[in-house]
Amino acid sequence: MGKGSLMCRYARLTFVVIVASFAAGCGGGLSESSCSTPGVECTLAQAADEAGMWFGAAIESPSQFGVEQTVPSDFNSVTAENAMKWGELARTVGNYDFTRADAIAQFAEAKGVRLRGHTLVWRDQLPVDLRDKVLNAVDPARKLDEFLDDHIATVAGHFAGQAEVWDVVNEPLSAVGASLDRSLFYRFLGEQFIDDSFRRARIADPEAKLYLNEFFYSYALTDDRVQSFLALLARLRDREVPIDGVGVQAHFNGITPLTTRSEFQKFLTAIANLGLSIEITELDVSESYFRSGTNATAAQAALYRAVVGACAGVPACRGITVWGIHDGDTWLDTTPLFAPNAPHRPLLFDSLLTRKTAYYESLSALAERNNQIGIR
Ligand code: G3I
Repeated sequence: MGKGSLMCRYARLTFVVIVASFAAGCGGGLSESSCSTPGVECTLAQAADEAGMWFGAAIESPSQFGVEQTVPSDFNSVTAENAMKWGELARTVGNYDFTRADAIAQFAEAKGVRLRGHTLVWRDQLPVDLRDKVLNAVDPARKLDEFLDDHIATVAGHFAGQAEVWDVVNEPLSAVGASLDRSLFYRFLGEQFIDDSFRRARIADPEAKLYLNEFFYSYALTDDRVQSFLALLARLRDREVPIDGVGVQAHFNGITPLTTRSEFQKFLTAIANLGLSIEITELDVSESYFRSGTNATAAQAALYRAVVGACAGVPACRGITVWGIHDGDTWLDTTPLFAPNAPHRPLLFDSLLTRKTAYYESLSALAERNNQIGIR
């Protein structure tokens, strides 16, 4: 963690404690959690700091509308939505331009917030010439392995001391079904590409927390894809792969099924029982699920409450990141598969940066962690 971020975090927390002390009329120690003390208005960042958790947002760049207005006031962590992906860093293999990504890393440091690195290895957004260079090599598997080795060393090394956590491998499962995705990496290197990617990331940045990031259609423990993912995690553990945690994406995109607090919390607990930390890494909840009902805003907020509350209810769950700052700028509205249900309005701020009901329900859910750890 950057020194700036630590100092800023404590400054935020100190502010909350002082305000709460006056509000509660007590001179020194708090009689109860400052962010759930009546009359104390906290932000998500303050409540997360107090709970020892992260509440972050994905950003495209520091200059994006809404970023300066909400970081670090409302979010104590940022993820590069695209800028740190292989093909965004290097349009062609080996030709890196860190300008956009460095701007995000330097912004996070300056604002005293945590930086999540996203993502070192993924089938999408790759350098435009990677596939051909591999397929045309005398030994494609060896060539791909060399590219992977160099990429992870270059990028994780570049951001060492800045990125506190990495999504090392993103979406190892097939987008359809429960098997491993037949990506370029899997086809030439087998499942071992996952092991090797984590081991290389650990060498490149021994301080960073290393996560495996995945999306799910269902969170039921009976779901084949869930079972396949848990089995993969167990294999990686048995092979002593240096994996610290799991990123659970949680995109409720208007098509995939919803979940309940109970179901989601059991899913998180199953991951925690493998000895892994968890982060909800890409949370957004399309309003389109609820349009036929009487109060779409309240229904959306209830699902945010369920997901954030499930994380707060599982000690191994370290935080939540929403996949964007405000409703006017969400990947769901521009992705062809989901565009028919646009505008999705899936985030915690509306397009004018007004906090939505989902913001306040998420805030209430965070307080559950405070009550659990007995901040009194
Ligand atoms: O950078 C180019 C730009 O030069 C060009 O002018 C513009 C118009 O074609 O496209 C820009 O690239 C876009 C890129 O985002 C950067 O904005 C791509 O077309 C667009 O497809 C890409 O979408 C991103 C998507 O990943 C790619 O699969 C979304 O913004 C991003 O939110 C989304 O995020 C992923 C996570 O990384 C992994 N989990 C799923 C999540 C949603 O797909």
